[in-house]
Amino acid sequence: MSAIGFAIETEGLTKVYRTGLRGTQVGLEDLTLNVREGTIFGLLGPNGSGKTTTLNLLLGLIFPTSGTGKVLGHPLGSSEYKTRVGFLPDGSYFYDHLNADELLSFYGTLFGMSGKELHKRIDELLDMMDMVARRKTRIREYSKGMAQRIGVAQALLNDPDLVFLDEPTTGLDPIGAKQMRDVIVNLRAQGKTVFLCSHLLKEMEALCDEIGILHNGRLISQGTLDELLHEAEKYTITARNVPPELRDALQGTVEQLTEAEGELEVRVTQQQQATKIVEELTAAGAELVACVQGRRSLEDYFIETVRSETGGEGRP
Ligand SMILES: Nc1ncnc2c1ncn2[C@@H]1O[C@H](COP(=O)(O)OP(=O)(O)O)[C@@H](O)[C@H]1O
Ligand SMILES: [Mg+2]
Repeated sequence: MSAIGFAIETEGLTKVYRTGLRGTQVGLEDLTLNVREGTIFGLLGPNGSGKTTTLNLLLGLIFPTSGTGKVLGHPLGSSEYKTRVGFLPDGSYFYDHLNADELLSFYGTLFGMSGKELHKRIDELLDMMDMVARRKTRIREYSKGMAQRIGVAQALLNDPDLVFLDEPTTGLDPIGAKQMRDVIVNLRAQGKTVFLCSHLLKEMEALCDEIGILHNGRLISQGTLDELLHEAEKYTITARNVPPELRDALQGTVEQLTEAEGELEVRVTQQQQATKIVEELTAAGAELVACVQGRRSLEDYFIETVRSETGGEGRP
């Protein structure tokens, strides 16, 4: 791995597709990104924002129009890292008439594995994916969740240091999605780097150490979830017996004010403002029920970021 501890480094990575005779379509524009070893990185963005293009560039499946990059310390596309990465494509195209054993054996032989070594590895992976009981069932009879787990098993056959997963939880039910998240966290616990692409913000929020947000082929934001979501924290203050004068005075100066069943709920984003309101409520003889601090959701952040990029026209 690279001496500075990055599993992935790119600089100005750009992909312009040719379409038709003279047409072009920007797939990715000027991507500069570092992904630290041993972390889960999530590349987020709406459909068509360039996530799969980024993956394909990093895997060396397509070539950049301009820009450079390194994967596990080797230049993009070099064969040196390809045996050390695993890949779950978006909507895995399986030979679905095979069962799990047959499918994994097939892929194992592509990696040059055979005999006892391959069988042992397949047993381990089926066990890890909780699929031992279904190993003789044809893939086409699997649920989407089971098929995705076999897809991950396939991606892990060669015990890769870096795993690329394209939309791993898309189309899964809540239990399937949770199992997939557990598998991903487990990969990190084994010291692997996981690079995920997804448009499912809630899934990513629970999973990623760091995220990048792509929009129209451009990286519009990058950082740890703490860094990105800390910016606009939210404070929710709940009180009873608030004098109407104070309630009216607060109205309009706070982000949100609601009243239900005798309780007033006030939301603000600034800590000083929250403190001031608590003081005012107490001074006015109101009964303070709660003052809760909670950071904004990734979904809120995403929509705000995209909106500010597009001048109000944000569509997640
Ligand atoms: N092979 C291709 N030829 C032409 N345009 C493409 C090709 N692949 C992707 N694109 C275009 O590049 C953009 C990014 O696509 P993609 O990387 O697949 O996005 P995502 O994975 O985020 O949905 C889209 O506008 C898409 O239509
Ligand atoms: Mg995609």
